[in-house]
Amino acid sequence: MAKTKTTFFCQNCGTQHAKWTGQCYACKEWNTIVEEVVQKEEKRSWKSSTDTQKRVTKPLRVEDIQLNPEERFGTKNQELDTVLGGGLVKGAVVLLGGEPGIGKSTLLLQIALQIPQKVLYVSGEESQSQIKMRAERLDMKNSNCLILTETNTQQIFKNIEEVQPDVLVIDSIQTLHTNSIEASPGSISQIRETSAELIKFAKETATPVLLIGHINKEGHIAGPKILEHMVDVVLQFEGDRNHTYRILRSQKNRFGSTAELGIYEMLSDGLREVSNPSEILISKKDADLSGTAIASTLEGIRPLMIEIQALVSTAVYGTPQRTTTGYNLKRLHMILAVLEKRAGFKLGAKDVFLNITGGIQVDDPAIDLAVVAAILSSNQDLAINPDVCFAAEVGLAGEIRPVSKIDQRITEAEKLGYKTFVTSKYNKITSKNHSIKLILVSKIEEAFATLFA
Ligand code: TYD
Ligand code: MG
Repeated sequence: MAKTKTTFFCQNCGTQHAKWTGQCYACKEWNTIVEEVVQKEEKRSWKSSTDTQKRVTKPLRVEDIQLNPEERFGTKNQELDTVLGGGLVKGAVVLLGGEPGIGKSTLLLQIALQIPQKVLYVSGEESQSQIKMRAERLDMKNSNCLILTETNTQQIFKNIEEVQPDVLVIDSIQTLHTNSIEASPGSISQIRETSAELIKFAKETATPVLLIGHINKEGHIAGPKILEHMVDVVLQFEGDRNHTYRILRSQKNRFGSTAELGIYEMLSDGLREVSNPSEILISKKDADLSGTAIASTLEGIRPLMIEIQALVSTAVYGTPQRTTTGYNLKRLHMILAVLEKRAGFKLGAKDVFLNITGGIQVDDPAIDLAVVAAILSSNQDLAINPDVCFAAEVGLAGEIRPVSKIDQRITEAEKLGYKTFVTSKYNKITSKNHSIKLILVSKIEEAFATLFA
């Protein structure tokens, strides 16, 4: 009898440990380490058609490598096509992550039902009748789309051989299990093994595979980190469950840019593509209030628009108060000193309160200019146009400094419907065809001469 081999995995971050410990040294979570059975048996269920032993590979010079353009097809969903970089690539494996209930299954069922290619939609989460109810809700049908409820990959591949689909959808990778290892579905080793089988299938048959992935409480896709390395595209579906808007972003894309994003609205009959995102912004606009400014910040690698609020008022007591929420207090002191010394604003005898709305903590120096804008707006009691946003660092000499990933920030602002983008003159903006108005400044005074003119 073969000896069963076991190892320990952190169920939160996927780190492999030699023995059980109470806390994972990688992600610092407690009680997440679980022993899993891993059998080193080469019993992959997708049998390779070409024997590795017989296949000949040899190194080539770059100029000798034949370039065959990626074969793509549209998904009839403009936003998804843009995020994918122009449609689905044959043989690509796309992983779609997101919070429960955000609409991952809805999005992929909608795609499966509208795409002209033959689709096999495999669900391990819902029964066929539940999926039928959802399809009825979406008011869509398509004789080219087959629904299968199955969680065993061997069974799934058996069905694939019969159906010969052009696109495979898996809802979700965490529900699958393969016979070749013992661990339970959703465990690190099952996710690694089943996704390896699916990736092999995708590459060998040039069939695109769309995988849905659950996320853990940190917002990362649950399972081994290596899953994100193995797939070609990682998409994140996000939004506030209390609001109807959803944003689809790509975190990784081997076939396109990760700066693109798609916007949807969740309606009672499915997801609607939002091609004019300024409607989102306009719906949030109140009467013109002074003391607020919008900053473009980066959260990890992703741009994010945040609102900064400032209140500047005459100090009642001797020592003026300076309070911040979500922003570094020392940095606020620095900015106030710069404004006083370099731009001649007398804030020394004023209380200054600064707040980043939404309760988030931001360290990105690119929000400096928006902080300055909010403070001056409150001080002068002049509102800043709500379709203006800012991204620049402020230096000690009052100079406006460039920030990282400027093109991504501009694209995001444009997509979200902002009309004017204020940033440093010294940024290296590579793409030229932005429709958003760029105001490029090098000093604080210049920025405010244009804003409060
Ligand atoms: P779902 O696709 O099941 O989310 P996920 O797969 O990411 O967990 O979406 C579920 C939510 O979407 C649910 O709360 C109901 C809502 N919904 C609509 O508002 N309209 C619709 O047409 C559908 C199908 C779902
Ligand atoms: Mg679902």
